[in-house]
Amino acid sequence: MRLPSTASPNPGAPDVDVAFVREALDQAGRNPEAVIPVLQAFQEHYGYLPVEALRLASEQSEIRPAAMTGVATFYDMFRHRPAGQHLIRVCRGTACHVTGADRVEEALRQHLGIPKDSDTDAAREFTIEGVACLGCCTLAPVVKIEDQTFGHAKPEKAGSVIREFRRNHHAADDPGRSTEELETAPAGAIEVHVGLGSCCMAKGSDRIYHALRESARRNGAHVNIKRVGCVGMCHQTPLVEVTGRAAGGRSAYYAGLTPATAPAVLDFHFRPAGLRQRLGGLLNRTLDA
Ligand code: FES
Ligand code: FES
Repeated sequence: MRLPSTASPNPGAPDVDVAFVREALDQAGRNPEAVIPVLQAFQEHYGYLPVEALRLASEQSEIRPAAMTGVATFYDMFRHRPAGQHLIRVCRGTACHVTGADRVEEALRQHLGIPKDSDTDAAREFTIEGVACLGCCTLAPVVKIEDQTFGHAKPEKAGSVIREFRRNHHAADDPGRSTEELETAPAGAIEVHVGLGSCCMAKGSDRIYHALRESARRNGAHVNIKRVGCVGMCHQTPLVEVTGRAAGGRSAYYAGLTPATAPAVLDFHFRPAGLRQRLGGLLNRTLDA
């Protein structure tokens, strides 16, 4: 198999950087066994395998063009076309399949103008792909865009999923965003555990974690806010547990929080009794242990 020496078949693709190709070969090696690390370096750098980079690498190493293309086409992990800036993964596991993942993918493609014979929109903002189980089947069908998970996705919500992703993504990029640095709370202080198992993540628990930390920082609350794994209550996600000696030695669990309502949990546990009563009405306290 020969590598074409013509211009890239992907108009608009980045120019291949000769210095980078040399550097990748210096690090991975120039012998035939180095083929996979070399391809991985290209994929990481360009987001796909530009033909020109493969050709150059082949010229400057002992890796034959046939080995280069053979390995590159054998493994699914290698892309041959430029990818969009953000990766949308539509779960095609059994639970998601039977709850309509196909229709969700179709709606996302339509919303973004990604034709059937492609996986990326014209502006190269999004690339869409089907993946195996994402590990939060209770929320099927599930779509993950970068590190944001959207559970119970519906075809008619395709547009709002994309809008919400863009909004969260821009907020995360905001240079004015707080670093949420908290002082270390004394021993016995209230501890807040935020479930960050896959189901909780799919229901936005990471945003709740940041909202709680930001609120604690602003109010100077002495509290330890920690991420914890699945506590086996995935049907109640996103789940927050308040515990510790200062919380009376008992655990209280809160379900159904949003980034907007989560700070009320801190207010409830730090404010005087009268205010607590009023705040208590806003919260869905699921279970005390
Ligand atoms: S099958 Fe989709 S998350 Fe498990
Ligand atoms: S993933 Fe949060 S309780 Fe299971």
